[in-house]
Amino acid sequence: MSMNPIKTIEWVADRKGHLLPGYIRLVDQTRLPGKLVFLEIRKLPPLWRAIKNLQVRGAPAIGIAAALGVAAAVQNSRAATGAALAAQAERAADYLATSRPTAVNLFWALTRMRRCARAGQRLVPSELKMRLLREALAILNEDIAMCRAIGRHGARLLKNGQTVLTHCNAGGLATSQFGTALAPVYLAREQGKRLKVYADETRPLLQGARLTAWELMRAGIEVTLICDNMAAQVMKERRIDLVMVGADRIAANGDSANKIGTYGLAMLAKAHRIPFYVLAPSSTFDLKLATGAAIPIEERGADEITQGFGKRTAPENVKVYAPAFDVTPARLITAIICERGILKPPFGRAIKMALAN
Ligand code: MRU
Repeated sequence: MSMNPIKTIEWVADRKGHLLPGYIRLVDQTRLPGKLVFLEIRKLPPLWRAIKNLQVRGAPAIGIAAALGVAAAVQNSRAATGAALAAQAERAADYLATSRPTAVNLFWALTRMRRCARAGQRLVPSELKMRLLREALAILNEDIAMCRAIGRHGARLLKNGQTVLTHCNAGGLATSQFGTALAPVYLAREQGKRLKVYADETRPLLQGARLTAWELMRAGIEVTLICDNMAAQVMKERRIDLVMVGADRIAANGDSANKIGTYGLAMLAKAHRIPFYVLAPSSTFDLKLATGAAIPIEERGADEITQGFGKRTAPENVKVYAPAFDVTPARLITAIICERGILKPPFGRAIKMALAN
């Protein structure tokens, strides 16, 4: 994809020619669309907070940030042995695992970092530090490749002149670069197809309004913003040809967790006979869970609903329920697109076969 994507997350070395020491450079997504500001993070607590507070967000981006976070956390360690350093890396991983519960990419990336630490216990600390950083960078680079592949597969579903509805932000900002749900839009545009996107605003934190609209406009793609509760009417007016969304965790049967509101959108798409696609890399599948019923759903603070962005819009002390994600049952999904291809129902078999090697 030749568009000039923003590097949502990268590792920046302090000195030319040496990977270590260095820091994680992140787009602060809470400042968009007003300002494009980058955070420079060298330590664990600010990274934990950046994940918790959605300065870095989106399932793949969270995983990459956490992997780099483990490498950053031990880079200045004075551990005398590889085993001691590995133990520090594992503690860093345990801490980051407490930041957000739903996106499995976080736990997938941390498992890879723990494995890398254990495998390198016999190395001298300086070598293990480098191994950990290289593993984190591999996770980042693999994500870029997976998103490109998702874009290639997904673009086959898009015809010239069509309009896609998306929810939340599953674009470049949610990954290392190109995104999942938006990757096909970017690629199809490169192939010369003219496409339009409708972006759900995505209450309460407005990832659609603040992030999806911003990144699509920056890329020169026509985007129309709607409030979440307008989707039914927009579909009824036949303005939408297909729905494309990302995922935070996909169970073995295809049930898919994504930003709150996605399930409702899938029901609406079914009612209006509009295809509904979930796009995610293999790091988003959790085959240990037979169905979506076991996916942990994050609950967020009441303030995000009662006084989002600093303006009180509900009475003080009102009771609030704030699940941040919902699970779309597999039966409502037309296909799941991952880097290995387009998976069609029955998903249990298709997912098993696609992820087998
Ligand atoms: O709470 P967020 O903003 O991290 O939620 C993000 C989403 O729900 C995305 O759609 C999902 O992580 C897929 S990102 C490629």
